[in-house]
Amino acid sequence: MTKSASSAPTQAYIDTLLLYYEEEVEGETYFKALADFAEQPDHSDKLNLLAKVENHAANITLPLTRKYNLTPKGDALLFQSGQEMARRDNKTWADLLSEMARLFPGYVDDFLRLEAMAPPEDLPRLKLLTAHEVAAVEFLDLELSGAQGSVAPLNAYLEEDIT
Ligand SMILES: [Fe+2]
Repeated sequence: MTKSASSAPTQAYIDTLLLYYEEEVEGETYFKALADFAEQPDHSDKLNLLAKVENHAANITLPLTRKYNLTPKGDALLFQSGQEMARRDNKTWADLLSEMARLFPGYVDDFLRLEAMAPPEDLPRLKLLTAHEVAAVEFLDLELSGAQGSVAPLNAYLEEDIT
């Protein structure tokens, strides 16, 4: 029996999957470092929550990297680059939020493009990967509008899992 064409992933898919996994690991360190820089406990808590969301997204994606025998960059290297990014992005809370609000919707589009390249059997995990960015955008919308409970979408995402 031959494999159906739809289950044979392209190199572009494999490369992007690996890159996005690595970026989630990097992202966790990035947000943790920003949390350490933050002066207000509320901001620090929210950045630590974003770090947890990145970690959760990485854990959801990890089995796909194993499925294709991919070798991500080492954690030490990714942690170092995450910390360097955070040092560059160490700005006021308002500036940080507006920067994230400018960039994150584009990341949702990137994840949707990854889904479009994926073999169907990978989609349940990839949809959960995309969902973490959607949750982050929802958090930013709420936070920027001054709403109470802006972290609800992030906490809801952390409850999502896949077996
Ligand atoms: Fe992320």
